[in-house]
Amino acid sequence: MKNIETMQAVPIGMGMSLPAKSKYGQFYADVITGLSATPKHLNSKYFYDAVGDKIFQELMACEEYYPTNCELEIFSEKTAEICNAIIGSGDAFDLIELGAGDATKSSYLLSYLMEKQADFTYLPIDISENVISYLNITLPVTLPGLQLNGLNGEYFQMLEKAAALSNKRKVVLFLGSNIGNMQSAEAEGFCRELRNHLSDGDMLLIGFDLKKNPATVLAAYNDKEGITRRFNLNLLERINRELGGNFDTGKFVHYPTYDPETGACKSYLVSTEEQDVKIGSETIRFARDECIFMEISQKFTVAQTDKIAKTASFKPVYHFFDGKKWFVDAIWVAV
Ligand code: AVI
Repeated sequence: MKNIETMQAVPIGMGMSLPAKSKYGQFYADVITGLSATPKHLNSKYFYDAVGDKIFQELMACEEYYPTNCELEIFSEKTAEICNAIIGSGDAFDLIELGAGDATKSSYLLSYLMEKQADFTYLPIDISENVISYLNITLPVTLPGLQLNGLNGEYFQMLEKAAALSNKRKVVLFLGSNIGNMQSAEAEGFCRELRNHLSDGDMLLIGFDLKKNPATVLAAYNDKEGITRRFNLNLLERINRELGGNFDTGKFVHYPTYDPETGACKSYLVSTEEQDVKIGSETIRFARDECIFMEISQKFTVAQTDKIAKTASFKPVYHFFDGKKWFVDAIWVAV
């Protein structure tokens, strides 16, 4: 589950526009800006409508998509080490998860921390109201006694709210290599901003997908069943559904690439013919073989992750790897 959308779709018809501040107004503005640019691009954060969430669930369960299993292995097999690092000298803390989803991975930590009677409150933050109400209903049943305060909203706004709610030290979880979906400058800026919302001694537990055999990486974004292909095409369908678009998804093919030198895994949709696509009142022209850049899933070396930590005024203190060393969950302390 990732960013489940709860709002009704509001198609934008011919000549109709929504105020830029509204959610759909922003989606429309970003789509038109991205598809009018050279090269054309769309923001992968828009993959996650209700349909995209379901496809992402399928993706995480598919044979070639290894990152989820690697990180689950780390959380299930290194639970005690991770928790002991988080507990530190034992003072009370707030455990804040950015983009908590269904909290499958963090549940390993929550159970262990409760078993050890650690003094903590779990604050999952998610942009989706659905996710937060799901966690508010399910977690008290699966983990009775858990101190829980779900926060629905943007990451940084909710971090400010969390800081206003208590002055306990903060331990922030940012899992799943979501950082890899940002371009490198954006990722560094994100870590810096996160640091600015924390105090000295606070912690960040952050997941990175590591560089590995290029064929393994590429296969994860080019699965045999075509789930990643559907995941990408769903964004064009979402534009049709919500913004009055008329994309013919049969005229676009999924093209994933991986550059082992830079670690950039990128997905494109390629127009198979010259065509015009209408989105609301706008017409977007595609040349034959023109590409839409859909997503970056950056792969890192451990040294690169350490460097990002330092640039953002964190000190990397622990690295937890899966057995194959394909993925790392690092603990950084704010300094
Ligand atoms: C959410 N994110 C870390 C996934 C990734 O691996 O970049 C999204 C994804 N895109 C295609 N497959 C999975």
